[in-house]
Amino acid sequence: MMDDEILKLLRGRPSSFLSGEEISHRLRVSRTAVWKRIRHMRSLGYEIEASTRSGYRLIQSPDLLIPSEVLPSLETDWMGKTIHYFTRLNSTNAKAYELAINGAEEGEVVITESQTKGKGRLGRSWFSPPLLNLYLSVILRPPLPPHQASLITLMAAVATAEAIEKCSRLRPLIKWPNDILLNGRKVAGLLNEIKSETDRIHFVILGIGVNINIAGRMFPKEIRAIATSLKEETEGKVSRKAFLASLLQALEKWYTVFLKEGGAVILKSWREWAQIKGRHIKMTSFGETIAGKAIDVDTEGALIIETRRGERKRVVAGDVQYTNKAPIAKHLPSPRRAGLRAARPNNK
Ligand code: BTN
Repeated sequence: MMDDEILKLLRGRPSSFLSGEEISHRLRVSRTAVWKRIRHMRSLGYEIEASTRSGYRLIQSPDLLIPSEVLPSLETDWMGKTIHYFTRLNSTNAKAYELAINGAEEGEVVITESQTKGKGRLGRSWFSPPLLNLYLSVILRPPLPPHQASLITLMAAVATAEAIEKCSRLRPLIKWPNDILLNGRKVAGLLNEIKSETDRIHFVILGIGVNINIAGRMFPKEIRAIATSLKEETEGKVSRKAFLASLLQALEKWYTVFLKEGGAVILKSWREWAQIKGRHIKMTSFGETIAGKAIDVDTEGALIIETRRGERKRVVAGDVQYTNKAPIAKHLPSPRRAGLRAARPNNK
């Protein structure tokens, strides 16, 4: 991507100008092509000073999720080392699926600044306005049978909850199977899609949407009362770049643990984040409503509910509503948030 290469060159000369001629020479493109890309980058929020005599100088970068912005702070070994970045997509899951069918490798990631057809669970849509939030899909190729796929979803929920806690210093709650709540409102959702044959997963697309800097009033009316963002809960702008780096790190860690040690350790952590045992819930699943007490999740991540008549039901998909109050997100003691706040002006 030419923008990335231009930025790399400009960053290499933080305090002086780089001539258009030198950039065009180094990248083997015309000076007009360089100017067009600079104009495009400015439209994305890059502050680039241009002088006819001296060339270009990078003054300030916006909080964009382009690879050259994200990769320098990414501390993973393999997760997210290839980022397919788009300013707009219909859905990152759809794009990742297409890439995976065509041979994309485990750990490749699709990121976009906005989605026109963001997909939610159970056929819903996911509100995806530009430049405020995180819309991400990760390609995984776990050597596992398809019945273990739902544990990958739980693993991703654990990793997302961990990244949210690290970033917000608030303790999120996972609502079965994989909604992430802060103070009872949804801050993130996961939609995982799988391609498999009878006894083998070909790939899993982990689709993760996190509301980061969106203001509460910007949510569509229908979800305004139940949705939130990190900015709303922490009362401060959060760096999407830093959050993404934390999320990819947590995903790499938990996925590796899962493959090495198996599902039990994932379930243990999921249970700690979900605190679901004994909660009174109402579950809507395939048009049926079940009210009762949550007993636990089983080894495949299905929810076991005991109805008021004492019957046990196993549910694999659906919507959970808590009928007793959800615990309030706790502020964690030590302020470890440094570095996760949005970059200050002048931070290139
Ligand atoms: C849910 O309904 O809770 C799941 C929402 C998942 C949204 C994310 S955003 C990135 C990825 N691409 C999509 O189209 N959906 C997921």
